[in-house]
Amino acid sequence: MDNVLVIDFGGQYSQLIARRVRELRVFSELIPYDTDIGIIKAKKPKGLIFSGSPYSINSKNGKVPSVDKKFFSLGIPVLGICYGMQLMAKLSGGEVGRSGSNEYGKTRVKLDLDSPLFEDLKPAETCWMSHKDCVEKIPSGFKIIASTPNLPIAGIEEPAKKFFGIQFHPEVVHTPAGMDILRNFLFDICGCAPTWTMVSIIESETKKTRETVGEGRVICGLSGGVDSSVAALLVHRAVGDRLTCIFVDHGLLRKDEARQVVETFQKNFKINLIHINAADRFLKRLKGIEDPEIKRKIIGEEFIRIFEEEAQKIEDADYLVQGTLYSDVIESGTRDAAKIKSHHNVGGLPEDMKLELIEPLRLLFKDEIRKLGIELGLSDEIVWRQPFPGPGLAIRIIGEVTWEKIKILQNADEIVLEEIKRAGLYRKIWQSFAILPSIKSVGVMGDERTYAYPIVIRAVSSLDAMTADWVRLPYEVLGKMSSRIINEVDGVNRVVYDISSKPPSTIEWE
Ligand code: XMP
Repeated sequence: MDNVLVIDFGGQYSQLIARRVRELRVFSELIPYDTDIGIIKAKKPKGLIFSGSPYSINSKNGKVPSVDKKFFSLGIPVLGICYGMQLMAKLSGGEVGRSGSNEYGKTRVKLDLDSPLFEDLKPAETCWMSHKDCVEKIPSGFKIIASTPNLPIAGIEEPAKKFFGIQFHPEVVHTPAGMDILRNFLFDICGCAPTWTMVSIIESETKKTRETVGEGRVICGLSGGVDSSVAALLVHRAVGDRLTCIFVDHGLLRKDEARQVVETFQKNFKINLIHINAADRFLKRLKGIEDPEIKRKIIGEEFIRIFEEEAQKIEDADYLVQGTLYSDVIESGTRDAAKIKSHHNVGGLPEDMKLELIEPLRLLFKDEIRKLGIELGLSDEIVWRQPFPGPGLAIRIIGEVTWEKIKILQNADEIVLEEIKRAGLYRKIWQSFAILPSIKSVGVMGDERTYAYPIVIRAVSSLDAMTADWVRLPYEVLGKMSSRIINEVDGVNRVVYDISSKPPSTIEWE
């Protein structure tokens, strides 16, 4: 099977690059930049892609991830993206400097259509930029193949060696021609064949789980969302009745969600399910806590403690299946990627946990998981559920979590969801929900002064949660939500709409 390796310098989008390559049906995996060249050679890649990085190539005292120069003498094409391009330029004799103006977001880029990288593209394309440094002088043998008014060197090529560099990100959805660029690189430049599919993931994960678990028993933390459901189904294929699912209701779910999850599960699965009501326990531990990272860690730990307690009741249950997906992993910070927030099931795990983790989806993105779910016969109702974070409403209530605030948020959130569904937008939107900030403002209701909370509505579009844009909801839908929330939810006198994209914001507020 042909493969192309992504050499990871810790960029936020590194895994996304590998994912895009896999979407084009070429196997790809992420390899740390300091991997021995012998290991790289043994994998027989048909090309390399150098990722971006949070580091600066000219840093005097900070870390500057680099590669052995032998990476350039494997006789295979190399595509450098952002930091990857700068590193390629620098190691080949060019110069990198700090660009006068930081460029973030969508930018029109002029492309040289004679380059095989841009074959069949338009002379100018919208591309996603996110950088501070830039190539200032190209190495000899290279030519410039892309530019913007602010950035004269936005793309480079060494035609004889088939080395290419682009300052923008072809892997994010905000570069509409990004997949065409990757397709040109994989098929025309590297000569790959498209032979990698979803079925091969199912087969390899089933085999891996069987080997790990042997004759042991397994428990699975089930939330009712697509990730944990797919993880449960995959593991059920591998170990059958030796799997028990545990659904923990931490009291921070959407209104009426616990009942729905249990009903849907029983309708869809023939797997043992234990339902634990642990609302008091979680709320007690969250009392007085305001810091989002501490909240996440408390919730992550409490989940694990409950799973451990339940596992003790089942003989030989040493393994815990989690539906952790790649965006949870990368946002929690990997060795080279900066930590954005500790997702409860990754960075929030206690160090002394007794169960061994099985995470069959750890390297996959949400849309890949949905495809897997469809392949495994999961119902549309579960496959297309909007994502809901493990820590639930705790990270949508800013500051301390109290019963009163949970109730306000659940009631407001229910209205947001009802109106989204009524407008036929539920499946078109990645996530839509309400947030309760920890401020109050003055209003007037029935001639009386009110001093109450605002509710923030957030609706975002995204493919994989790595980047997101706010949804241009119709004014009528927003208006309906606003008047219903203010009229129907006690304790709220104002509604605002969050119009921030990710980056620079994140989807959740905490
Ligand atoms: P952010 O806020 O980082 O969210 O842009 C990206 C996606 O991840 C979800 N999210 C979480 N999911 N545990 C989870 O299972 C967590 O701790 C967590 N934090 C954020 C979020 O809802 C969005 O889909």
